[in-house]
Amino acid sequence: MRIVVLVSGTGSNLQAVIDAVAAGELPMEIAAVGADRPGTFGIERSAAAGLETFVVNFKDFAARADWDAALLDAVAAYKPDYVLSSGFMRIVAPGFIDAFAGRYVNTHPALLPAFPGAHGVRDALAYGVKVTGCTVHFADAGVDTGPIIAQTPVAVLDGDTEETLHERIKVAERELLVKVLGDLARA
Ligand code: GRF
Repeated sequence: MRIVVLVSGTGSNLQAVIDAVAAGELPMEIAAVGADRPGTFGIERSAAAGLETFVVNFKDFAARADWDAALLDAVAAYKPDYVLSSGFMRIVAPGFIDAFAGRYVNTHPALLPAFPGAHGVRDALAYGVKVTGCTVHFADAGVDTGPIIAQTPVAVLDGDTEETLHERIKVAERELLVKVLGDLARA
C-alpha cells in the first residue's frame, strides 16, 4: 500500500505514522508528503525522515481551480492507494474526491458529526461536552463529512484548555490513525 500524506502544520500525527512504518508495524510505504504552504514542520520532519516532499502553495495560485488542479496532479503523480489528510487545513475540490473516491482518509479531533471544522476542540470545549474524541473517516467534498471508519472517545477534564485537551486527543488520534492504516493495508 502506498500513501501520500497531506499536512498544513506540525505533523505530529504524521510522525506517529512515520515511526510505525519505520518500526515495521505498518506494511505500507509513504510515497510522499505534501503541504499547501511552505515552511511547515510537517514537511521538515518528513524530509528529515528521508521522505519525498512537495508543496503546492495555495498563495501561488490566482485562481482556486488552478491550485485544485495542481494539487491533484502532484498527488496523482505518486499513484497512491490512499491519500491521508493529517491536519491538512484545506477542503479539496470535488475532482480530487472523485479521483480518490473512498481512498481519501481524514482525521478530525472531535467525535463527528459533532464539531466539524477548523476548531473542533475549541467548539467542543465551549459547548461544555464531557466527552469528545477523534474520528478517522473517508472524506468527501464537505467539511469533515464522509463515512466514519473509527472513533476514540476522550474525556474532557475539569480545567482543560483547548491546548491540554487537544494534546490528549492527539495521543488517541495517533493510535487510532496507525490502527486504521494498518487495517487498510492488511485488507
Ligand atoms: C490534528 O488534531 C488533526 O485532526 C487536526 O489538526 C491536528 C493536526 O496536528 N486537523 P499535527 O499537525 O498532526 O500535529
